[in-house]
Amino acid sequence: MASMIYKTLQLYLLLLLVVSEAAAFVPSSAFEIQNLFRTVDLTKSYLRESASFIIENISEEPQNEYYIAVPSEIVGNATDSHLAIMEVKEKRVDPVVSLAVEVGPSNADLANWWVPSGVQFYKVQLSEPLAAGETSTIQMATATVGGVEAQPKLIKQPEAQNLLWTGSKLALSPYKVVRQRTKVKLPDRGANAYSKAKNDPQVEDTTLTYGPYLDSEPFATETIQVRYEYNFPVVEVTKLERELWVSHSGGNLATEERYWMTNSAAKLSETFSRLRWQASGMAGERSTAIKGFSVRLRPGARDVYFTDEIGNVSTSNFRADIRDPVLDFRPRYPIFGGWNYSFTLGWNHDLGRSLKVLSSEDSGSDTYMLRVPLLEGPDNAAYDMAEVSIILPEGANVVDIFSTYRDYEKEQSLLKSHLDTIGRTVVKLTLNNIVDEHRRNELYITYTYSSASSLHKPIIVSAAIAAIFFAWIILRRIDVSISK
Ligand SMILES: *[C@@H]1O[C@H](CO)[C@@H](O)[C@H](O)[C@H]1NC(C)=O
Ligand SMILES: *[C@@H]1O[C@H](CO)[C@@H](O)[C@H](O)[C@H]1NC(C)=O
Ligand SMILES: *[C@@H]1O[C@H](CO)[C@@H](O)[C@H](O)[C@H]1NC(C)=O
Ligand SMILES: *[C@@H]1O[C@H](CO)[C@@H](O)[C@H](O)[C@H]1NC(C)=O
Repeated sequence: MASMIYKTLQLYLLLLLVVSEAAAFVPSSAFEIQNLFRTVDLTKSYLRESASFIIENISEEPQNEYYIAVPSEIVGNATDSHLAIMEVKEKRVDPVVSLAVEVGPSNADLANWWVPSGVQFYKVQLSEPLAAGETSTIQMATATVGGVEAQPKLIKQPEAQNLLWTGSKLALSPYKVVRQRTKVKLPDRGANAYSKAKNDPQVEDTTLTYGPYLDSEPFATETIQVRYEYNFPVVEVTKLERELWVSHSGGNLATEERYWMTNSAAKLSETFSRLRWQASGMAGERSTAIKGFSVRLRPGARDVYFTDEIGNVSTSNFRADIRDPVLDFRPRYPIFGGWNYSFTLGWNHDLGRSLKVLSSEDSGSDTYMLRVPLLEGPDNAAYDMAEVSIILPEGANVVDIFSTYRDYEKEQSLLKSHLDTIGRTVVKLTLNNIVDEHRRNELYITYTYSSASSLHKPIIVSAAIAAIFFAWIILRRIDVSISK
């Protein structure tokens, strides 16, 4: 009997523990959101959302963490993420500061925390504690690869493509939202169908504004759909291999990029007709097919090339403006929805434009900093995966790598080509789910390199020549002695 009471007590204590632990994770009691303004931007081929809102500390418990909830059907989850951008900024006093964001809480924690299914959480550290009753302004931005779908999935060759966005007219929030609105921004031809309610939405040119809605409970959602014409390609780079070759002796920075690309637009329901294609081209009609790209290169780009599996592609045009060089290139054939294309782009720059000497030692070992864009490439493209490799000269030692974009995996290795003795230092960064907007990020690599190691190769080469020369003399001597 006593043991049973004891067991019950134990169970009760355990439950109490679970409940009190659960309470620690329920975020809804910590903040209240006022005046949330959200924008769903459908003007690009991938989905972008931003929101700005005021948070108020309504708790008495100390907590510096703020949770963001995102529908997992849009961002995926930790193992299968579609999220390309997640930026959170706080404006309490000037200037606006970026906040650290991490995936969390963990699934184990969530077991004690009631949440609707299909929610992915992100934990944000506020810049400093917010006293009870005080407010702060948060700005957040996300971009997700995919997120919109072609409807219908098959179209005839001259038919326009329509995309469908399905989402909620209420922002997903783990906290109560006192007042909110959602604006949907569309490409130039506006929406051709959208969810309507009484006075909702207000339509103006290419925007739909839903709301205001008052006092939404935590996790409240209400599904809406917007269908709109998007008669452009949906460029998805399934893989990019970007290589930057640093040569001190040649004073050159060579860039080579290999793309594996697919057009994720609606597929053709009939076989491709070249005649119809030429007619629509002459009429200047828009098409979901990839006809060509423009890539803005950095000033000073030269020796540009564009090749595919067959070889040199002549339908490229390089506008060699010193300050704003642009490479326009056209694949050999239009790339329709569901079709793939792989190609290589390359160009050179004077190394001096990207390299700075940080310090020079008497010993001959100098410290350099290389500054390059993380990504170049065409507009309006989403990348499933990119490998960015920087190939440093032989004997270079990496001191530090810094990028304004931090979400990558780093790997360092040695690359040996013939004539190399030690091998070149290669730094490879692997990035998943990125978009053209990441082009504004830069990559800084600090390394030491001794001018003596730049003599390495000539010394080896001359040693090799000398060896051949001596061998030849010796052989000749032997030869001569035999003939005597
Ligand atoms: C909210 O206010 C309480 C009481 O002043 C404080 O203990 C807590 O740290 C505040 N929360 C945040 C997130 O700053
Ligand atoms: C993540 O999403 C994928 C695809 O939706 C699913 O197969 C997988 O089980 C999910 N993983 C977790 C940990 O939820
Ligand atoms: C490719 O074309 C460029 C000029 O368009 C030319 O300079 C180069 O030699 C060509 N390369 C090959 C391999 O044909
Ligand atoms: C396109 O490439 C993907 C892999 O990147 C492959 O799965 C698919 O079958 C390819 N499609 C065609 C039509 O070749």
